[in-house]
Amino acid sequence: MLHPRPHPVRRELQGGMVLRTLEAEAELSGPCAVNAAVHGPEVGALLRSLALHHPDMDPRDVIWVEDQGEVVSTVCGIPWGLYLSGVQLSALELGLVATLERWRGRGFQRAMVGFFRERIQERGAHLSIIQGIPGFYRQFGYTYVLPLEGGLILEHRQLPATEHGLRVRKATPGDIPALAALHQGLTRELELHATRSEEVWSYLLEHAVETGTEGEFWVCERADAAAGYMFFPKHHFGDELVVSEAVATGTDTALAMLSHAVALSRERGTPGVRLSLHDGSTISQLARAGGTRHGPLRVAGVVPRHTEAPRRAAASAHRPTARVGMGRPHWRDCV
Ligand SMILES: CC(C)(COP(=O)(O)OP(=O)(O)OC[C@H]1O[C@@H](n2cnc3c(N)ncnc32)[C@H](O)[C@@H]1OP(=O)(O)O)[C@@H](O)C(=O)NCCC(=O)NCCS
Repeated sequence: MLHPRPHPVRRELQGGMVLRTLEAEAELSGPCAVNAAVHGPEVGALLRSLALHHPDMDPRDVIWVEDQGEVVSTVCGIPWGLYLSGVQLSALELGLVATLERWRGRGFQRAMVGFFRERIQERGAHLSIIQGIPGFYRQFGYTYVLPLEGGLILEHRQLPATEHGLRVRKATPGDIPALAALHQGLTRELELHATRSEEVWSYLLEHAVETGTEGEFWVCERADAAAGYMFFPKHHFGDELVVSEAVATGTDTALAMLSHAVALSRERGTPGVRLSLHDGSTISQLARAGGTRHGPLRVAGVVPRHTEAPRRAAASAHRPTARVGMGRPHWRDCV
């Protein structure tokens, strides 16, 4: 949420360039335009929405380099709550990484990552995460941890139309308490997951429209009470209809939601449904029974090697591997 903070940053770099952080809403247009040009309009809109509406954002996490007032390169710290093996961690994602083409190779990202490390310390974050191009972030001390894309692909013919008698409808902000409770139920099973306050739920449902995190939450009701939900992100790799988050409180709910996803996929003309969920979820298990294949893994998740918190948390885990998303990462090998 954008509110005045003391000490916005302004640092001289070589060649008259200046590293800056956000002071006023009107300044957002420059960094947003860089992200729109480099990544697409939805990412420009995402930066604006994060800065103005995300409940945990600090303006000093909107970082850019400018040349005589023109913004040419950006990064943004996106706050996350993570839970790993009984330990609550705060993380700062290095996101919205972009340099305008003609300004690349001049060390602007390196300079901003140096400042970003200071922000990690100032915020007291335990670690930083990144979802991004493989290879680039290793030079900044990050290493591969989790596959984030991929999942099970279910073709239409693999799930015949089924009668389930449950209602599946689009979620509204009024569903937030029920969604939050279902999410907590889901995450209780996982050794590693993101934590989400009701404010963050509101942000996702009300302020993600036309941004890179836009998508649809659908609720499944049994006797007028929410029994499950799923999320279809608008932006993703591949052509299938993607389910990137789903909770089902019983097999009937899982079947209703899967049938609904297949019906939506047919309606929208996508070549099937891809479940980018963790392997043990009821929905994934049900889908596997219909015969599925694995989609390609495309995105790497990495955390800095120097961070001790995940290592300590992993050492205290009872199970040898942590389960999250759709992968089974070996933490001891990675952090
Ligand atoms: C990737 C990108 C952000 C780099 O920006 P930049 O301002 O040119 O980065 P820097 O000049 O600070 O480069 C830092 C180092 O990374 C290296 N590097 C640059 N692009 C790289 C890439 N795609 N892969 C690996 N290393 C790369 C540089 O050689 C430099 O190394 P050096 O200091 O040892 O010479 C920029 O090319 C870009 O905006 N690309 C398109 C968008 C994108 O891919 N963003 C990341 C999405 S996750």
